[in-house]
Amino acid sequence: MSMQQPRTLLIGASGQVGSALEAEFSHESLVAASHTHARPGDTLIDLGDHVALQKTLRDVQPDLVLVAGAMCNAERCEVDPETCERINTTGPATVAEYARASGARVVFFSTDHVFDGARDCYVEEDTPRPLYVYARSKARAEALIRAMIPERHLIIRTGWVYGPDIWRRNFALRLVDRMASGEKVVVPSDQWGSPTHTEDVARATRFLVERDAVGVFHATGPEFLSRVTLALKICETFGFEPGAIEPRPTHDMGQIARRSLRVRLDCDKLRQAGAAPFRSVTDGLSSLRLSAQSRGPDRRSSDAQRTGSLEGR
Ligand SMILES: NC(=O)c1ccc[n+]([C@@H]2O[C@H](COP(=O)([O-])OP(=O)(O)OC[C@H]3O[C@@H](n4cnc5c(N)ncnc54)[C@H](OP(=O)(O)O)[C@@H]3O)[C@@H](O)[C@H]2O)c1
Repeated sequence: MSMQQPRTLLIGASGQVGSALEAEFSHESLVAASHTHARPGDTLIDLGDHVALQKTLRDVQPDLVLVAGAMCNAERCEVDPETCERINTTGPATVAEYARASGARVVFFSTDHVFDGARDCYVEEDTPRPLYVYARSKARAEALIRAMIPERHLIIRTGWVYGPDIWRRNFALRLVDRMASGEKVVVPSDQWGSPTHTEDVARATRFLVERDAVGVFHATGPEFLSRVTLALKICETFGFEPGAIEPRPTHDMGQIARRSLRVRLDCDKLRQAGAAPFRSVTDGLSSLRLSAQSRGPDRRSSDAQRTGSLEGR
């Protein structure tokens, strides 16, 4: 285990996974970078502006870069694949280029949707087969990072992320908001995944970083369930009547991105490495409810409202 804390740059600190990482890596040599939701003291980084990114990397000179920033809205990626590629693929590759030259390490957060879901369950060595623009951009970034810094990368694939978020960017918090305002909520009936609490991902990340782990790790919650089951569990936890949930097949939802519908990641490698188990959905939603109560009313993301999509990515 490293005794001295590396100088760490966290890209995407204002995001859901990013804010959990910020808490987990809150040592004094952490530089937090955000993009449009900058907090006081944040460094500004646009992964799509590669010249500025290179300059920031040279200025900060991190030993470790955590890349949790991404263009995550699957529908926007579909309509603007060039921007998606610039932010999600070339941006992380620019970070890897810096790491190749400087000897730094890179942790890149990727998605279960690098797989199409045709198989029951995927291990880390399975060949990605992404179905849509966002997923392809992440798979390409993975491949570039692995090729550029084979000895100094960590790729953490997760999925169906939720946790406290002032911008309410996850399925659980958006569902709660819509239920609270008395709306009927259409939920895809044929999408399955593993809800994953952001704090568990952050803890596992620190565990792996401290052990100088290299390679790809799958990191999702222990259950595999449908969006509808998850929605019903959210209703139960937050005290809403489930009658407002309206299950509908994905192809009737008017979405452009042809998402993978059922991707289950085998997380045995992470368990074997000794990382703490991830919490159950019941425990995760209970802690989400408690954190929502203790923080009071959260700010609403205009982004979340505009996109109309509950699931994002
Ligand atoms: N959410 C999921 O269910 C899920 C599932 C699988 C994998 N992942 C992956 O996990 C990582 C974190 O996702 P998340 O759910 O935490 O995302 P999120 O809450 O939507 O936050 C996205 C983060 O990316 C930053 N960002 C967006 N555009 C950027 C740009 N051009 N340059 C630099 N930063 C930019 C945002 O910064 P600002 O807010 O300041 O603009 C924000 O910090 C991503 O790599 C995502 O692909 C997420």
